[in-house]
Amino acid sequence: MDNAVILAGGQGKRMKADIPKPMFKVLGEPMLEWVIKACEGAQLSEMCVVTGYKAEIIDEYLNGRYKTVLQSERLGTGHAVMQAKEFLKANAEGNTLVLCGDAPLIDSETILNALELHKKENNSVTVITACIDQPAGYGRIIRNDKGVSAIVEEKDATNEQRLIREVNSGTYWFRTADLLEYLEELTTDNVQGEYYLTDTVAIALGKGRNVNAYTSPNPDVVLGANDRKGLLALNTAARMMIIDKHLENGVEFTCTDGVVIGRDVKIGEGTEILPGTHLTGNTVIGSGCSIGPNCIIEDCVIEDEVKLNYVQAFKSQIDKGVKIGPWVHIRPGSHIKSGVKIGDFVEIKNSTIGEGTAVAHLTYVGDSDVGKKVNFGCGTVTVNYDGIIKSRCVIGDNCFIGCNTNLIAPVKLGKAVYTAAGTTITKDVPDYALAIDRGTVQIKEGYSLRKLKKRLEKA
Ligand code: UD1
Ligand code: CA
Repeated sequence: MDNAVILAGGQGKRMKADIPKPMFKVLGEPMLEWVIKACEGAQLSEMCVVTGYKAEIIDEYLNGRYKTVLQSERLGTGHAVMQAKEFLKANAEGNTLVLCGDAPLIDSETILNALELHKKENNSVTVITACIDQPAGYGRIIRNDKGVSAIVEEKDATNEQRLIREVNSGTYWFRTADLLEYLEELTTDNVQGEYYLTDTVAIALGKGRNVNAYTSPNPDVVLGANDRKGLLALNTAARMMIIDKHLENGVEFTCTDGVVIGRDVKIGEGTEILPGTHLTGNTVIGSGCSIGPNCIIEDCVIEDEVKLNYVQAFKSQIDKGVKIGPWVHIRPGSHIKSGVKIGDFVEIKNSTIGEGTAVAHLTYVGDSDVGKKVNFGCGTVTVNYDGIIKSRCVIGDNCFIGCNTNLIAPVKLGKAVYTAAGTTITKDVPDYALAIDRGTVQIKEGYSLRKLKKRLEKA
């Protein structure tokens, strides 16, 4: 069976942080995860991750999802693959994909295209390459009239070779049995004194075996990050790659400033994404929506024709035609049903808001089940926490909640209940009733004049 070895032993000194380089994040996910997902997308389920620097961080992150082997000394990419020998021997009859954990933009399609070429040409080694404008730092692909003849590392290259723009992505397909053979023959005879995996190309050719390159039309697949600037460049490339995909699917962007979209997010046709909007996790957005400016949406399901303006929403569902914003926080476990309008400075937490309900301003609804066509006056608070436990409020259909009502949970309002402004509700209210809790207003005429007079007398 075909399998994959991911090299993730490196430290990334130039990042100036104490974690393995493949754990640095691109669009919120470790680079290692991007590489793993590319393999999974290419139907590779047998994977072995070579760890080294701070291996425990990767072990903890993977949490047993895939096998890891430890490279206790960093003696080069060839040496890293040697650590996976047992894994390779157990699957020796197929092909092995070797990838770098610090080059996250490799994708499943490129992997599969390269495998197709690898099999069709009966290659022993197929290296994935791309032509880039700034090849510094990458291994250069040396070609002759028969095809690829070697990979030369930047540090070992002649000035002339350094001009070559076709570079090694660090991802290759090997016939597994051949790879095991080549690993035995690697030496440290180079400027860096390391076991270079790239030397396998020359070794294979020396044995008269087929070697070729699959040149990716997308130069980003080779991009790696060696420092913070490189990581930012990767984030930018990944960000635009995802936005491009949505543009092709009919999503509208008038300006992409500050727009960050996670790669698992789905967006329907005709939806407009406005500046400053972050869409992450497993968020699914329908069509004809307007999201932004300045929204943060994580793990939400949003139906068609929803408008969100300055909204933060997490792990919630928002149904068709809902309008929310500006400055609204929708916290996990909420379900906002169709036709609801939520206005400024409102927080909804772990609550269901029924069809057509309006929560126009300055209101907190927590742990509540709200019916249809309810109107919340300004400043309503569901008092859901007594310092020890959280309780629920139930509000029936067609209720009219007066401004500054406090609902002390657990409490239930029946159907079409009115609460007078400023009322604190401490017990259930039956259908069609008015609940009013208000002291009598006393008018003390001339009060401020008397007060002023007293003060003047003292002075
Ligand atoms: C390597 C390639 C180069 C290619 C580039 C693509 C070699 C000799 N060179 O160079 O041709 O253009 O990748 O990014 O292979 N690693 C280990 N253990 C080690 C050394 C490295 O696990 O002892 C891991 C690193 O964590 C990294 C990957 O292998 O994920 C590549 O290593 P790195 O040192 O970054 O190689 P490059 O110099 O970039
Ligand atoms: Ca690298």
